[in-house]
Amino acid sequence: MNLKIAVLAGDGIGPEISVQGVNVMSAVCEKFGHRVSYEYALCGADAIDKVGDPFPDETYNVCQAADAVLFSSVGHPKYDNDPTAKVRPEQGLLAMRKRLGLFANIRPVQTFKCLVHKSPLRAELVENADFVCIRELTGGMYFGEKYQDNEKAYDTNFYTRPEIARILKVAFDYAMKRRRHLTVVDKANVLASSRLWRQVAQEMESLYPDVTTDYMYVDNAAMRMIQEPAFFDVMVTENTFGDILTDEGSVISGSMGLLPSASTGTGTPVFEPIHGSWPQATGLNIANPVAQILSVAMLFEHFDLKAEGTLIRQAVDASLEANVRTPEIQVEDGERYGTKEVGEWIVRFVRET
Ligand code: IPM
Ligand code: MN
Repeated sequence: MNLKIAVLAGDGIGPEISVQGVNVMSAVCEKFGHRVSYEYALCGADAIDKVGDPFPDETYNVCQAADAVLFSSVGHPKYDNDPTAKVRPEQGLLAMRKRLGLFANIRPVQTFKCLVHKSPLRAELVENADFVCIRELTGGMYFGEKYQDNEKAYDTNFYTRPEIARILKVAFDYAMKRRRHLTVVDKANVLASSRLWRQVAQEMESLYPDVTTDYMYVDNAAMRMIQEPAFFDVMVTENTFGDILTDEGSVISGSMGLLPSASTGTGTPVFEPIHGSWPQATGLNIANPVAQILSVAMLFEHFDLKAEGTLIRQAVDASLEANVRTPEIQVEDGERYGTKEVGEWIVRFVRET
């Protein structure tokens, strides 16, 4: 297969983990006889500094012309504490999602056997956790009408029926491929937008008689994810709830640096870690490249290249088993491996297996 990849490294630890993702991608392509080419483009604070726009048209064109985007992270502290900033790095990510029509964000919460003890939750709770959060990505408060002056401000949680139906379809279809259990997460006891979500979901249930569908308020879901993560198979929710719940979900696996995601919809799909740009770690060679590398696995799997994805997953498992880990998940007194060393180990495994 020919693969044209747009690489958006972004800010903070982004460039460091991006290199490792690209190296793994190249090694897998070489092994399986795929031709891959990369086109690098600016985004985030880096793009604001260089061209004054966190998602320039030039970058959009590069993404549009590609088969997939390998994205890393955006965000810079100089904007975090400046609520008056006119333009922010995160707007680049949102613009990318919107302009590429990426309405479905797939965030698998998986655990790794040898890291179960790294989770702040008890091992017996975490052991069987294996679920996917399907987060709506181009609607809700993120994109609804906004207003801000010195005295008042609002964001509108706006959703239309077609927007709800298309993300629910993704979720029901996902449930069919998994354990056929779908949990619709909302706040229908308070929010009108949630009531429409629930109504549309209830209407769609009859199209998926093999799926057990249940409904859970988001506050309750936040609790249940910690109390009994193994309850969940596929969870679907609106943009803001999905943002919050997936950070919570990452804690289950033991490190945010382990979880990848895929954003799909009408345009070029994007594969990216769920974590942010971790500015404090920039250039220190301590960021975990695994989330980025597993995003590459999701990229291959998106194109139905299953063996390629599986090999990456095997390589990651093997690196963790061999204690080739970045500091945040290293065993006590274990050798410390950097971003680069973990990436190189995984590349070697891919080549030699
Ligand atoms: C995420 C991030 C983004 C979001 C930020 C960086 C805008 O937290 O991908 O979860 O809120 O969607
Ligand atoms: Mn988030």
